[in-house]
Amino acid sequence: MHLSRFAGLVGAATCLPLLSAKPVPTWTPDVTHQPVPYDYVRGNIQNPLPEPHTPAGGADTSPSSAPFYHPISDFDWESLNLALHQEYIELDLFRFALKKFSKEEFAAAGLGDNDRYLLEFMSDQEVGHARLITNILGPHAARECTYSYPFQTVKEFLSFSQKLTKWGEAGVYGFLPHLDSRATASLLLQSITTEARQQMIFRQMEGLHPMPVWFEPAIPQSWAWTLLAPYITSCPTGNSKLVWANFPALNITNVEDPPKDTAKPAIAPITPSLSKPGRTLSLSWEKPGKKVGPDDKYTTSTQAQGPARYVVWVSQLNHTYTDLTLGKDGLSGSTVQPDGFVYPPEGGLVDGKPFKPVADPVVNGTMFIAVVDSNPYLTGYNFSLINKHVVAGPAMYVAG
Ligand SMILES: *[C@@H]1O[C@H](CO)[C@@H](O)[C@H](O)[C@H]1NC(C)=O
Ligand SMILES: *[C@@H]1O[C@H](CO)[C@@H](O)[C@H](O)[C@H]1NC(C)=O
Ligand SMILES: *[C@@H]1O[C@H](CO)[C@@H](O)[C@H](O)[C@H]1NC(C)=O
Ligand SMILES: *[C@@H]1O[C@H](CO)[C@@H](O)[C@H](O)[C@H]1NC(C)=O
Repeated sequence: MHLSRFAGLVGAATCLPLLSAKPVPTWTPDVTHQPVPYDYVRGNIQNPLPEPHTPAGGADTSPSSAPFYHPISDFDWESLNLALHQEYIELDLFRFALKKFSKEEFAAAGLGDNDRYLLEFMSDQEVGHARLITNILGPHAARECTYSYPFQTVKEFLSFSQKLTKWGEAGVYGFLPHLDSRATASLLLQSITTEARQQMIFRQMEGLHPMPVWFEPAIPQSWAWTLLAPYITSCPTGNSKLVWANFPALNITNVEDPPKDTAKPAIAPITPSLSKPGRTLSLSWEKPGKKVGPDDKYTTSTQAQGPARYVVWVSQLNHTYTDLTLGKDGLSGSTVQPDGFVYPPEGGLVDGKPFKPVADPVVNGTMFIAVVDSNPYLTGYNFSLINKHVVAGPAMYVAG
């Protein structure tokens, strides 16, 4: 396949601070290639090969750098211990649901023996993932805790699970490229890709489109911990306390979740869009200072200096800000779902024949929003700098 324009394909310039919903842009014709201001663009070898068929560069690629599959910084330890808590809750959750709901209850949600076996297999995968991270962390790795879940029906279980696996997945994508121990990152990558598949399967079981996006979002550790901690009831006393923040909880109060009329389980249903640009979201959030998480050992907090001013929408490669209309109580408000494409509509040639321009709306799938006091320009790799501006959230938003 030949794409007619590649200058815009690099994921470098994310996050146009888009302050209100804009009308749908019309297709813009190809732009001429911009000059590219970095090295290694000539498409040829610029340094001698250290070995045949081995281009110079790459981290830890020489025979002398033996991989070390353990944390080599506090950042590594805390990130991996967080990931371990995530694997444990998944292990518990899938087994809990298989025990709680009867065959008949699963059948009423359109799920049969094969599907229940798949759930059981997913819980087995979590045994392996927890084992992997425990081996990486060593004897002081977190141990399994007890949990409480906010669902009563199979459909609510599926909805909770597709969100929980999503924040698990996005939470790891957020720190994976920043780990000091790259050897460890390579192993974690191979477990998080499995988790991403679980997430997609839960969407299919819910009757949602499996992956209505071109890119999966990433969030900082404190966002994942904020979402996870409320469901952990109690942990063994030997578990160390995580360093990550618990931000005040954020709720979307005017959106049904899960939607009442979700379709039956399907591979890729064509269902009406769950949301549209221009939709108003009503929000409410908590004051900081609430005890949360295992054994109430954590307290919600915020470092935001100013009042709540924007909502940041974290979806695909993008971080988009919309204006927040703040309620009188200072703990509620509303905002409008933004518009925009990840990249402008783009056509191309297959076998020399043009195909119709395609485009991907930014806001879709299972994504994240948070209330913030400022709209700093951030891109994927430095998005954790948002943390000192978070007033509340994240909340998960199933936009499609
Ligand atoms: C989304 O991110 C891409 C990649 O960084 C960027 O090119 C695009 O302009 C962003 N889209 C919007 C609507 O902000
Ligand atoms: C999300 O993607 C689905 C599948 O492509 C599409 O039908 C739907 O309209 C999209 N939703 C939004 C809000 O763009
Ligand atoms: C958010 O929703 C949860 C669960 O429904 C509820 O317990 C909590 O009180 C809500 N908080 C706010 C600030 O809306
Ligand atoms: C985040 O990264 C972008 C480049 O991708 C840069 O322009 C921006 O200034 C950075 N933001 C902060 C707060 O450092």
